[in-house]
Amino acid sequence: MPQRGVLSKLHAPHSAGRIACAGRSAGRNCGIHGCNIGVGQAYLQRAEIFVEPRASSRAGDGHHILAPRLNDPRATRRVRVWCAGCSSGEEPYSLAMTIRETIPDAGRWDIRILATDLDSDVLGRGQRGVYPAERLRDMSPARVSRFFRETTLNGQPAYTAAPELRDLITFKQLNLMTPFPMKGPLDAIFCRNVVIYFDEPTQMKIWSRFAELMPEGGHLYIGHSERVSGDSKHVFDNIGITTYRYTTKGLGRKG
Ligand SMILES: C[S@@+](CC[C@H](N)C(=O)[O-])C[C@H]1O[C@@H](n2cnc3c(N)ncnc32)[C@H](O)[C@@H]1O
Repeated sequence: MPQRGVLSKLHAPHSAGRIACAGRSAGRNCGIHGCNIGVGQAYLQRAEIFVEPRASSRAGDGHHILAPRLNDPRATRRVRVWCAGCSSGEEPYSLAMTIRETIPDAGRWDIRILATDLDSDVLGRGQRGVYPAERLRDMSPARVSRFFRETTLNGQPAYTAAPELRDLITFKQLNLMTPFPMKGPLDAIFCRNVVIYFDEPTQMKIWSRFAELMPEGGHLYIGHSERVSGDSKHVFDNIGITTYRYTTKGLGRKG
């Protein structure tokens, strides 16, 4: 049965679809469905979005998810992040790198990154965590040597993600059209360049289902071509071009 609200071109090559890949509009291709270079490649380089305020123009201190907790002994050591539509895993591995770099004693924290996608093929690639060497070419040598091991992929030089990244991530198949199995609260949801393929009513439903999993101050990161719409605009405060902070303070303004 076709998914309600999902455009039929969801898994068609970009050349066949009318909707441009969000990555393509940003000068990149998404790395799946016949494209060569991944949007995820960018995530391997800008994983700092998780902790660095500069990723968001108006975010201020509130944009930090991890940093404020580091020097506060009373702050929770529990971190839950969901990468929804994670494709072949670059984004969750990037987040895992950032977490390992930001929290030296991450082993003593309770940190989980849930990485989900509808497509079992890309999910399998994420689970394997093996990337052509060329994908890591702009990553600092320090990061490469800390977080990756040399290997081969189809006879070509490649890198495989180290256990200290894998340990933080659970890959699971999940269709965003079906009820979410997790209960939350989630500190952050990354859902970039995914809902762009859905129609407006479906997008609105997904925003409100994301909101149900968010604690006050939880963060939602979406793609450059995407915007939170519908009633969820009242609870997702836009604090950067692609960043939202969940707050119930706006509910009084709901019309
Ligand atoms: C353009 S890719 C974006 C990947 C990644 N978030 C990024 O920005 O690099 C879109 C991803 O959404 C996944 N997807 C599409 N429809 C989905 C659905 N109904 N449920 C879960 N994932 C879906 C696709 O399989 C694909 O991996």
